[in-house]
Amino acid sequence: MPFLKILLVEDSPADSRLLWEMLRESGIKNRFSLDPAVTLKDALSQLSSRKFDLVLLDLMLPDSSGLDTFRAVHKAYPDVPVVLLTGLSDETLAARAVREGAQDYLVKGQVDAAVLVRSMRYAIERHVADRSFKPAHKASEDVVMLCPDMIGSSPALKEVRSLIETVARTSNTSVLIMGETGTGKELVANSIHYLSSRRYGPFIKLNCSAIPDTLMESELFGYEKGAFTDARQSKKGLFELADGGTIFLDEIGDMDLRLQPKLLQILENRTLRKLGGVADMKIDVRVIAATNVDLSEMVRAKRFREDLYYRLNVMAINLPPLRERREDIVALAEHFINENKDFEGEEGQVKKLCKESASALENYGWPGNIRELKNIIERAMILAGPDEIRSEHLQISAAPSVAPSKEEGPPGYSMDMSLDDLEKAHIRNVLEKTGGNITHASKVLGISRYTLREKLKKYGLREAEDA
Ligand SMILES: Nc1ncnc2c1ncn2[C@@H]1O[C@H](COP(=O)(O)OP(=O)(O)OP(=O)(O)O)[C@@H](O)[C@H]1O
Ligand SMILES: [Mg+2]
Repeated sequence: MPFLKILLVEDSPADSRLLWEMLRESGIKNRFSLDPAVTLKDALSQLSSRKFDLVLLDLMLPDSSGLDTFRAVHKAYPDVPVVLLTGLSDETLAARAVREGAQDYLVKGQVDAAVLVRSMRYAIERHVADRSFKPAHKASEDVVMLCPDMIGSSPALKEVRSLIETVARTSNTSVLIMGETGTGKELVANSIHYLSSRRYGPFIKLNCSAIPDTLMESELFGYEKGAFTDARQSKKGLFELADGGTIFLDEIGDMDLRLQPKLLQILENRTLRKLGGVADMKIDVRVIAATNVDLSEMVRAKRFREDLYYRLNVMAINLPPLRERREDIVALAEHFINENKDFEGEEGQVKKLCKESASALENYGWPGNIRELKNIIERAMILAGPDEIRSEHLQISAAPSVAPSKEEGPPGYSMDMSLDDLEKAHIRNVLEKTGGNITHASKVLGISRYTLREKLKKYGLREAEDA
């Protein structure tokens, strides 16, 4: 499995935890492993026994401090890129270490997930450029870009991959990604950005349906001071923030018709005028748009500008629904199973799908596509506990081609129940299966823990004492 193997040398548990959480939230999510070391001695011994793609190194350790820490690591393992973690007070030290070969340093407390991942990416890439560095294992060669994995070997997915590679070689071509919900549109956009020469630049995402039309214009294009009553200060729009990088406009079909000419102007002239501005500014951005509706249909209905449609659609990528590439289903399921192994979970024991559950997955209709598959696997892993995943752990709502729904329904079900009764019975069943664990039960039910607690109160149910 392509994994980025990181050695984290840090003696403060709180700081380690923070970094781990940042990585989990970042674009690399579950695609890394983080081995902790708390002393220099420990770090050196781990480096001697395993290959790492990167070391995150705190300079102040119980058994070594300052430049000595870095020198000890770098001298013994010059092939492993090092990013330093420092407090404010030893920033100068860190800067010296960078002159001696550390790839970068990050000041604790001033780092967020994006900065961290970008620094790691730089570190690895510069290292590659410096010394024809051999990644820890072959699979991680493509992780060098920290570009998310696309699983699947169906002809349809192969075609998508090759299109991604083609567009990534260009840097200005607009791309229109089309596909049903959950088919991987955002993942494709990510891949294009991180494989292209714009990867060091910003990658900005905006969901056009998430922002009211009235705010959209200033959000996208920014405004000058005094442009309207509340504009006390000028503000950069997302296009300006994305300068030098890529902007991803999700659900482009929801963009207001009145704003569309402005987007067209950017695409045609590569210039932009802020609200209340007097001059155009140059803007260097690649636009990737995505939609789950048929834009050509919207064009016909005059709800989307035809000229803009053609401008965006210079390169089209169509993501087929999962039901049209069933050969990818099991591979995807196994990928999500592997991803779900907890950081703190015990070593070994990889959970498996039994034969029946694999074929149930293959025969299901997948209206929610890959996102739905991912959720179902996540829930199944909780329900299965340490056992292999069997069909009863897969909460597939309706899979007529596999299991015609039984008339008697789930345990405790009867035809004269009200919806509330049904909800109560279902929650009780799930709580039973998850041993009363609220976190797990809420995941299975697809609601927040807060909502679940409210429902427990409402129905007079109890959660486990220690949950
Ligand atoms: N080929 C793939 N391999 C591995 N994971 C994938 C693949 N395609 C999609 N995913 C995962 O499935 C989930 C849904 O993908 P994504 O968010 O890209 O879909 P989307 O088309 O943007 O959905 P929506 O239209 O609902 O926004 C994500 O967690 C993504 O990482
Ligand atoms: Mg999306």
